[in-house]
Amino acid sequence: MRVWAPTSASDIEVELAGRVVSAARAALGVELSLEGAVIRPAGPGRNADFQSNVALALAKQIGRPPRDVAGALVDMLEVDDLAEPPQISGPGFINFSIRRDWLERRLSVVAADERAGVPRAATEQVVVVDYSAPNVAKEMHVGHLRSTIIGDALVRTLAFAGHRPVPQNHVGDWGTPFGMLIEALHEHGWAAGEAHGIDDLNAFYQAARSRFDADAGFARRARERVVALQAGDPATVALWKELVAESERHFADVYRTLGVLIEPEHTVGESFYNDRLAQVVDELERKGLASVHDGAVCVFPPGFANRDGRPLPLIIRKRDGGYTYATTDLAAVRYRVRELAADRIVYVVGSPQRQHLEMIFATADLAGWLGDRETLLEHVAFGSVLDEHHKMLRTRAGVAVKLGDLLGEAVTRAAAILDSRSPDLARAERDRLAAAVGIGAVKYADLAADREKDYVFSVDRMLALDGNTSVYLQYANARIHSVLARAGELPDPSTPILVGEPAERALGLKLLAFPAVVDAVLQSMDPHRLCTYLYATAVAFSAFYETCPILAAEPAPTRDSRLALAQTTSRVLTLGLGLLGIDAPEHL
Ligand code: ARG
Repeated sequence: MRVWAPTSASDIEVELAGRVVSAARAALGVELSLEGAVIRPAGPGRNADFQSNVALALAKQIGRPPRDVAGALVDMLEVDDLAEPPQISGPGFINFSIRRDWLERRLSVVAADERAGVPRAATEQVVVVDYSAPNVAKEMHVGHLRSTIIGDALVRTLAFAGHRPVPQNHVGDWGTPFGMLIEALHEHGWAAGEAHGIDDLNAFYQAARSRFDADAGFARRARERVVALQAGDPATVALWKELVAESERHFADVYRTLGVLIEPEHTVGESFYNDRLAQVVDELERKGLASVHDGAVCVFPPGFANRDGRPLPLIIRKRDGGYTYATTDLAAVRYRVRELAADRIVYVVGSPQRQHLEMIFATADLAGWLGDRETLLEHVAFGSVLDEHHKMLRTRAGVAVKLGDLLGEAVTRAAAILDSRSPDLARAERDRLAAAVGIGAVKYADLAADREKDYVFSVDRMLALDGNTSVYLQYANARIHSVLARAGELPDPSTPILVGEPAERALGLKLLAFPAVVDAVLQSMDPHRLCTYLYATAVAFSAFYETCPILAAEPAPTRDSRLALAQTTSRVLTLGLGLLGIDAPEHL
């Protein structure tokens, strides 16, 4: 399979890595990759901006002492245009300090750029993002919340980088449970006079389920309904549509509250693939990839075994002739590659579905469905959301954690923070800001967590004014706006940036790293890198703000430069939060 090519090669680390690659070729005849040059920001107190430990790795490889290797590399390194002469330290680290004039030139360009230096991709990639995907007539749970938030951030980041994201909401709107739901709807209708909250749908589902288990006649009629639904019986389809529409209204409510970009036209649910399922099975059988076991049609993709080491089947048609979740996912891969022309398909789905998706990917590959463009399939897995007792945060009777309640609580708490800090806000303004802060906090806490790990949902922690939270970033950004407002006239965009002070330099280096971070997010499909970066940038700004007077700065070029640095910081924070789907109000 192809790998995802980086879109921007504009940042300093990549630039330095390129020079190291050339030096290694010239000095040692070794061919390194850019990653192989291992350029990292130098730690604090290192008296350098970047460091490479490439010599240590190469030393082993070619059997020479690391400091020798470092010396040989440094002799051949051509970096004078951007860095001071490289220094060797410790066991053979190569240290780079970026030249002040180079930094200032680069920063001046970035400060004048509305995209803060992030280039548009030279070749637009079509990236299908499979996310959110709640199930009809079941309550959306926190797993769907994570998928929705992460997926939305990826969609926004892809679009900003100049790619074409294609959101696909793979809603669970098909399959055997619908027989019983439709039959129940047919026999009883909705509970009269009740508003149909999502919890009513849930209760309706529970009631139909118990009826199905207890009443053989009902169970039989429900099975017949599945057949009627799949055959397109008009009355059955009409009831099914009612059920789906009702659920979709609730999904839309949650999406609106969350402020995510997902729209009705992105819903391409399981039902969409109904008339493609037979072809999927046929084609796999024809290619000799599927075989019948115990009456079920199965694929055995190599490399998957159950506990006793026996090959694990991916069932694509059950004994009763019904198709499965897997058949649908295979049909979806085929559709997305052939009809949506996807270069890459990312599945923002919880970790428990890892094996399912890996088997789908392997089967699609075997079947030759990844096409000429060798579409890249990736599982963007995420961990669970835990409550304060480190138990799964679930929407079960007893635990009763509703998505709406979680979000509501965060917004209420955000409103309280605003009331204590800015008591003079007009009501409507305060409510608007409370939503930006509260919803932002929920999203940020989710995105800032290591994607694959579980995290504890804590409204207290996510709304902390200090630390790596969106609230901290939003206040930092609002503070910059208030400084800019007090400045009166703002400097011309072509103002030269000066980085004479260490805090200016540190902030400048952070600002220049933004494009590389956006790129890293798209490589790894991991927005938490952007969170880490934005936090570090806000911290660098606050150090700058404490040590470098802005409004009081003399002479004019210094004041202008500092104002422009502040403005660029705000732009990076606003753009960055925007990529995460979080508002950055100008005042709070
Ligand atoms: N509806 C599924 C669930 O709630 C998630 C679907 C994920 N996407 C997919 N293509 N399988 O677990």
